Amino acid sequence: MPSLFTIFFSLFTILVLASSTHGSGTRTGTNTRPFKKIFAFGDSYTDTGNTVSGNGPAGFSFVSNPPYGSTFFHHPTNRYSDGRLVIDFVAEKLSLPYLSAYRNNKADKSNGVNFAVAGSTAIEHRFFVRNNLTLNITPQSLQTQLYWFDKFLATQGCVNMTTTPNQCKAVFDEALIWVGEIGANDYAYIIGSTVTGNTIQHLALKRSTNFVQALLNKGAKYVVVQGLPTTGCLTLSMYLSGDDDRDDIGCLGSQNRQSYSHNTIYQAKLEDFRKEFPEAVIVYADYWNAYHTVMKNPTKYGFKELYKVCCGTGGGELNFDFFGACGSPASSMCTVPSQYINWDGVHLTEGMYKVVSEMFLNGTFTHPPFDYLIKKKMQAGIN
Ligand SMILES: *[C@@H]1O[C@H](CO)[C@@H](O)[C@H](O)[C@H]1NC(C)=O
Ligand SMILES: *[C@@H]1O[C@H](CO)[C@@H](O)[C@H](O)[C@H]1NC(C)=O
Ligand SMILES: *[C@@H]1O[C@H](CO)[C@@H](O)[C@H](O)[C@H]1NC(C)=O
Repeated sequence: MPSLFTIFFSLFTILVLASSTHGSGTRTGTNTRPFKKIFAFGDSYTDTGNTVSGNGPAGFSFVSNPPYGSTFFHHPTNRYSDGRLVIDFVAEKLSLPYLSAYRNNKADKSNGVNFAVAGSTAIEHRFFVRNNLTLNITPQSLQTQLYWFDKFLATQGCVNMTTTPNQCKAVFDEALIWVGEIGANDYAYIIGSTVTGNTIQHLALKRSTNFVQALLNKGAKYVVVQGLPTTGCLTLSMYLSGDDDRDDIGCLGSQNRQSYSHNTIYQAKLEDFRKEFPEAVIVYADYWNAYHTVMKNPTKYGFKELYKVCCGTGGGELNFDFFGACGSPASSMCTVPSQYINWDGVHLTEGMYKVVSEMFLNGTFTHPPFDYLIKKKMQAGIN
């Protein structure tokens, strides 16, 4: 006959085993849902449908046409790629449906909202108007996205942690906040103008960090912030520049150095926020180094074309022509998109977004690793 002690001991073992099984489920992300919602922000790298052909960035006004979306969705979804974006892989990892666009009134928003909008800048639109930089520019910025988010939060009764702590806690305790890449457009819009890159760096960083701070003040608790990618590797950057300005990965060196320095200052500010908001988990997603790593060893990830776009016109080294952009009648698409990094000149292929998202989600290029954020969420309570 088993003693009382053995019965207790076995019970204890079962409990421990049960909880550790639960823990490993979290790591693979297949059978648990650490978050109920995602709120995402950013530009066309994160936008899942807030713009359509005609109201997005003028250089890429065919997003509602095939072959956008052809690889995964098999039809255009107003994503600027042939398939899924990083935010889509994040949703998959968290066992949540793909994020609904804020401007889609009919969409189900119970699992979160995507406020990211293509063409968006970090700096407010007024700045570009004042400097006569309105060509090709959409009026949305981080300010727009914060305004939209405030309107959404108001429907949940949340103003900020000082005024309505309980309502804001209810929203943010169950939500992953994903601040996608932002700022690349700010730098792109001043090409050929007298506004300097340093002016943009100063203002764009101020706006981006104020934005993150505003989210934290509202009660944001689990936050991932993406830095800028190696913007000097985008086909458009290379198309607009001379051959003499190239770095170790064959990209526009001056621009990659500028993005790198932008990210360095951004990260230092995030470190300040970690001290100022000890209750929050703030993860930095290092897009620049993820992209750089792929460029250093492309065949490891299945890529053959690093600079040439999959969907474009003109052939040649870049297959890019600003006036024959992807989706326009003149354009055509490559046969194996997963061998290309660049999709349409500025945006990346699903293949590249998949690799980058794996690097973020498996912790190689997230600091602290993404798993740490999941662990903190699980410790705080299972929803
Ligand atoms: C913008 O354009 C207007 C009209 O052409 C001109 O008067 C003004 O000086 C310009 N502003 C800048 C900052 O270049
Ligand atoms: C919170 O909201 C109130 C009311 O709008 C405002 O007065 C206060 O400055 C806000 N606090 C923070 C930290 O944003
Ligand atoms: C993370 O993902 C990348 C991209 O798929 C892969 O190359 C790398 O080996 C992975 N690292 C770990 C630790 O799993």
